[in-house]
Amino acid sequence: MMERIETDFVVVGGGIAGLLTAWLLAREGEVALLSKAGSEESNSFRAQGGIAAAVGEGDSPALHRRDTLRTGVGLCDPGPVDVLVNAGAETVDLLSRLGTPFDRKGEEWALGREGSHSVSRILHASGDATGAAITRTLLRRVTAHPRIQRYFHTRVTELVVEEGECTGATAVDRRGAAWLFSARCVILATGGCGQLYRYTTNDAVTTGDGFALAYKAGAELRDMEFIQFHPTALAVKRNPMFLVSEAVRGEGATLVNDTGESFMARYHEWRDLAPRDEVSRAIYREMQEGRRVFLDARSLKSSFCERFPSIYRACLSHGVDPEKEWIPVTPAAHFIMGGVQTDSCGRTRVPRLLAVGEVACTGVHGANRLASNSLLEGAVFAQRVAKEAARLSPPHRKAGGRKPLIPGDSQEEEKWKKIIRRLMWERAGIVRNGESLREGLEQLSALREQVPERFLECHNMLIVSQAIIQSALWREESRGGHYRADFPEKLRKWVDQHYQVQRGRRDE
Ligand code: SIN
Repeated sequence: MMERIETDFVVVGGGIAGLLTAWLLAREGEVALLSKAGSEESNSFRAQGGIAAAVGEGDSPALHRRDTLRTGVGLCDPGPVDVLVNAGAETVDLLSRLGTPFDRKGEEWALGREGSHSVSRILHASGDATGAAITRTLLRRVTAHPRIQRYFHTRVTELVVEEGECTGATAVDRRGAAWLFSARCVILATGGCGQLYRYTTNDAVTTGDGFALAYKAGAELRDMEFIQFHPTALAVKRNPMFLVSEAVRGEGATLVNDTGESFMARYHEWRDLAPRDEVSRAIYREMQEGRRVFLDARSLKSSFCERFPSIYRACLSHGVDPEKEWIPVTPAAHFIMGGVQTDSCGRTRVPRLLAVGEVACTGVHGANRLASNSLLEGAVFAQRVAKEAARLSPPHRKAGGRKPLIPGDSQEEEKWKKIIRRLMWERAGIVRNGESLREGLEQLSALREQVPERFLECHNMLIVSQAIIQSALWREESRGGHYRADFPEKLRKWVDQHYQVQRGRRDE
């Protein structure tokens, strides 16, 4: 038996993009908001540094655009970048009116600095808990809205595509009950896929489900080779790893190796505030050469424990006092620049299927995302996607759907997940090469045969991992978040070239 829910809009995902889209759409009709996790499990919730917007004195959307394009190393789509940077101030204003308590310095916004930004433009809340502040604000709004029904701990198993249109989704909740949602459209806001990697800052929910669902429904995945590795995860064994925000370097902390050398001077003219891919590779090289890497945050412009209270507590809980000693750090998978290909209104190739936030690829990030542009992306494009969804009239027919498979035992699934994570870290990590990528692809094909079908998240991880490796093999150059040791140069002929993975095409 499947319980059938008729609604106007299905939104999948409980981060900033999903919550804001759901709240905006509730003006237009009934919304079913689905999330496979609880309300505080998302990458948005974990975001520390903040949200970038050109709101400070001496800043402008043009400057923010320049920094975004430079960091994206020739692969950003300028149209969506304009949309993003031009909407910064009004989006901050919207989030603030909804109740987000952004930090202030007197009458002005308090603005932090992060890597690759030419000015201080990062708004933050509660010092270093910006994502939690925004998502809690939006959750309060969503929870209070009578037209939004929340289905948390409910996992989408398949998108319903009939006569070429996406008219709903099937899902199972944690008790094993099956659901069929029928709607005018489905909006994917499922976030990223950091959990494909052995070391990641991403929440345990980020197994790439949205990419896999969209792929199976016939949408295109674009630019999947571009993975951003954050340079400074706290180097203690933990999944997810705790992030030490780039804003800490923005306040004056420096990276040092175990000889005490501030080594970034050897790698980039912007030193510790160079683009993230450059800093992560520099740390990787130091480590390959046998040196350990630390963040020296003992003499910041402000007091560590006041400016970064959550990071301070996390470090102390692992026996490191950042005000007195170096913090051990290591790079970890953090963000995917690619995703489900959409236009600037969130439309995918499949009619009535839209995508927004990290799962979508509008082209704003190119080969490398500018720090703190992701919360902005989620909030800006949520407004456009909501407008687009509201324009859709009901489809001619209601969604039908197959009864979903009930997910298998999670402990056994965890063992398969570990195998995939290790494989991706070793084969498609910070530094890649053709031979190792090809071996990785073969191993993934074998795993697709071996992993039992009932392990839905593992199958999603395998589909997305294959898309990443296929794309990484295709791009025979190094650019942004994709570095090939066998093709270390950035080559002109690859500018404006994008690889698309689509079911039944090239990849199968
Ligand atoms: C950070 O605080 O360093 C992360 C911010 C981001 O990923 O944009």
